[in-house]
Amino acid sequence: MKTFVAGVATTKFGELWSASPRGLARLAVFGALKDADIDSKDVQALFVGNMLSGMLGGQEHLGAFFAEELGLSVPAFKIEGACASGGLAIHNAVNSLMSGQYETVVVLGIEKMTDHKPEDVATALMGAGSEEERLAGATFPGLYAILARVHMREFGTTEEDMAAVAVKNHYHATLNPNAQFHTAVTVDQVMRSSKVADPLKLLDCSPISDGAAAVVLSTKRTKRSVEVIASVVATDTLGLAQRKSLTELSATQKASEKAYTLAGMDAKDIDVAEVHDCFTIAEILATEDLGFFPKGKAASAIQRGSATIGKAKRVVVNPSGGLKGCGHPVGATGVKQIAELVEQLRGNAGARQVKKARVGLAHNVGGSGATAVVHILEI
Ligand code: COA
Repeated sequence: MKTFVAGVATTKFGELWSASPRGLARLAVFGALKDADIDSKDVQALFVGNMLSGMLGGQEHLGAFFAEELGLSVPAFKIEGACASGGLAIHNAVNSLMSGQYETVVVLGIEKMTDHKPEDVATALMGAGSEEERLAGATFPGLYAILARVHMREFGTTEEDMAAVAVKNHYHATLNPNAQFHTAVTVDQVMRSSKVADPLKLLDCSPISDGAAAVVLSTKRTKRSVEVIASVVATDTLGLAQRKSLTELSATQKASEKAYTLAGMDAKDIDVAEVHDCFTIAEILATEDLGFFPKGKAASAIQRGSATIGKAKRVVVNPSGGLKGCGHPVGATGVKQIAELVEQLRGNAGARQVKKARVGLAHNVGGSGATAVVHILEI
């Protein structure tokens, strides 16, 4: 059974204080249905990717909550996998179509984070870490700072190399009307921004964000649909201390290897990728683990412009602005990545269009790499 993305929509990402989760969900889902030219009465199931609504908002039971809000009287599921909740929701929706259970389903990724105190958000996000990391007072910027230090020691990666990722992704975000930030930054500005967890600075981090994205998946091909040719999930230990290596995220490697096999492709066949750059070091790790650059070589390649719209020799990475520039409403991110790829592959991405893009890869990570989801799409 083949699976196609029939329609997509993304709300603006950012500090959306006047928007409610209900309103964001309606904008995203009805936008995606309109894009697919599908009536809501033809939707057979709803999958919701979300991480923090229970902890921050006190609202669990999101499947039924959003089914009621959207007027969809269908089976509905909340899927949680930390910052990979959106990608996992898509994976489960794809499987439900492949099994023959449904023919048309909707996936909603949604998160509302900025109404809450930053320290409460940081504590809630650490629900994705291991118990010992929480008891030690670790935060996600702190955990990724450890990964950055090890990469710097092993491969000579510099703070300026990491800053180049922020420069690229903030530039891409200036071309994306839905992005949280529309300000280009320089390496010098990144280097002078305030320290968050040494060596990571404010401008090395993805922000706290609100936003939603939705996709309509179908077993039927239409003129505008994009095929999902691989959907793979892999896991690793929750805590960093239990890992054999800190210079790679093995779940990303496992998921992408299997995805390339399923798609009958390899890394060099990917034209455009949305990867999980929750911190600048995370994009460096991801582009190495996905096979776009050899281990230890991504930083210098990104510095040379090898992943930038208009300059890339092969794959363009994070044309949406990524998590860094577009924003990171955690449960929405994995769904937004698919929506961005669909716009790119249809040739509808406007100023940030990657020329002749035919094959796209989405890479969504939960925690410090305990869950990795890889999708490959082709038009
Ligand atoms: N990148 C760029 N600018 C940012 C930013 C970011 N990541 N975070 C905040 N800003 C900007 C704000 O827009 C604001 O600008 P303004 O003064 O012009 O309005 C300014 O910096 C201060 O914002 P504030 O909200 O006070 O920042 P903060 O100090 O509370 O939070 C971080 C900054 C980096 C600590 C927070 O964004 C964070 O925790 N990020 C990581 C989130 C995370 O761990 N996600 C899960 C990943 S696994």
